[in-house]
Amino acid sequence: MKRGEERKSFKMYINNAPLVKALMEYAKQDTIRFHMPGHKGGKAFPRAFLDNLAAWDVTEIPGMDNLYCPTGVIAQAQTLAAKAFDAHHTLFMVNGSTLGIQAMIMAACKPGDKLVVPRNSHRSVWSAMVLADVKPIYVQPQYDQENFIATQVSVRDIQRVLDENPDAVGVLVVHPNYYGMCSHLKQIEKVVHGRGKLLLVDEAHGAHFIFHPDLPPSAGELGADMWVQSAHKTLPALTQGAYLHVKGSRVDVKRVAQVIAMLQTSSPSYLIMASLDWARAIMEAEGKALMESLMEEISYVKARLRSHIGLLTTDDYGKREEVEALDPTRLVLDVRPLGITGYRAERLLREVGVQVEMSDIYRLVLICSVSDDRAIFNVLVERLEKLADKLSGHRLGPCFEDNKISTFQEIPQQIMSPREAFYSIIENIPLKESAGRICAGVIGAYPPGVPRFCPGELIDKEGINELLNIQRYGGALFGLVEGNLVPVVSE
Ligand SMILES: Cc1ncc(COP(=O)(O)O)c(C=O)c1O
Repeated sequence: MKRGEERKSFKMYINNAPLVKALMEYAKQDTIRFHMPGHKGGKAFPRAFLDNLAAWDVTEIPGMDNLYCPTGVIAQAQTLAAKAFDAHHTLFMVNGSTLGIQAMIMAACKPGDKLVVPRNSHRSVWSAMVLADVKPIYVQPQYDQENFIATQVSVRDIQRVLDENPDAVGVLVVHPNYYGMCSHLKQIEKVVHGRGKLLLVDEAHGAHFIFHPDLPPSAGELGADMWVQSAHKTLPALTQGAYLHVKGSRVDVKRVAQVIAMLQTSSPSYLIMASLDWARAIMEAEGKALMESLMEEISYVKARLRSHIGLLTTDDYGKREEVEALDPTRLVLDVRPLGITGYRAERLLREVGVQVEMSDIYRLVLICSVSDDRAIFNVLVERLEKLADKLSGHRLGPCFEDNKISTFQEIPQQIMSPREAFYSIIENIPLKESAGRICAGVIGAYPPGVPRFCPGELIDKEGINELLNIQRYGGALFGLVEGNLVPVVSE
């Protein structure tokens, strides 16, 4: 097709390609991106990469190696990554930490095995339990009642559940959580390995930790047997790019690779794999300096927003026993002083060209990476200050603070395994009518962002009232289908 013809056909077809059109318009708006992927519109990619996206999109031709039996360039890239991330083996993945979590669990457990998992796990943990027929032993993360936020699991709780379940195969820890809160992973490691169990870590949000000594130590440095990282969240890598690292002799890396090959496409994207190689290379060479300047910028942003418009961050929440450290690169802005919810702040910011990663009732969560520079942070500060001016005098409407909603810490009765619940006949019924039924999904509210009922658990009145109360005060429910319906096991 000639250039002129191509332009004409592009114009003709664009209205019939809604996804292409939406992406084109988003890119044209020049919105400031505080969301993933961490390359932020390609800023951290070399020109050669951006100019050759289509040319480099190849398959397993000679010279390009094979992800599932690597002996050439992929093997070399993975070996370099293992060295950079303090692992013995690194496996590239093109389906995010989602696949990594499934692979860790399926490689570590046999059907019927018990695994200790935090209740605020990513949904891939439940899909892995269905796939592998693993029995969850739940541990609740602690809850910061003052700030309506689930924090981390405590070492004491891990110890307790392992004492109660000496036959558990291992423990999975989410470190850090979405808000950048890290657990006392070293102490947990001692407890877990002291009992001869496996330590698996979901470090989806912490791929950058290893690159600066002022960042929290990474799971590999703290003795995890396996840990997964979404390179695409905090490093300059393409969406879906992730690493699964293995260290020590407790895990058979061949088994892990076998599970990945079983679950993942047989045509892995060379672009994603190349971005994993690139992210490691650039971070190894320049990561320390880049992270240093990122931390400086963020600490300036926090100080300025605190002094000019009174915004708080998780630094202001005070020390909590179960949280060892906060990721200084995760910008969590508590917008209560503006008199609006986090949800509204997200919408208002979007209208002025700033897109954040996530909001909850009181907070905005911004993903920052080495691709963000001073100019970007200045725009953020300027737009937030303008917003604060416009809103001055606002008072947050009826809110949790007036009501002091408490959340339930007991774990509901487990009637069947997640796999049994998944393979039952399932029907969707109104939440209000679901007491006494067995939950077939993962149902909860933000805040606290922790499931209230997990698959296979008995739904009770108390839980339903708690969810509806949170919703009444502006919180959002998750896991419901077709409006307010709960998936339950058919009687
Ligand atoms: C804590 C946590 N773990 C795992 C995942 C899955 O990561 P990915 O999007 O790379 O599949 C997410 C995604 O947001 C997450 O927040």
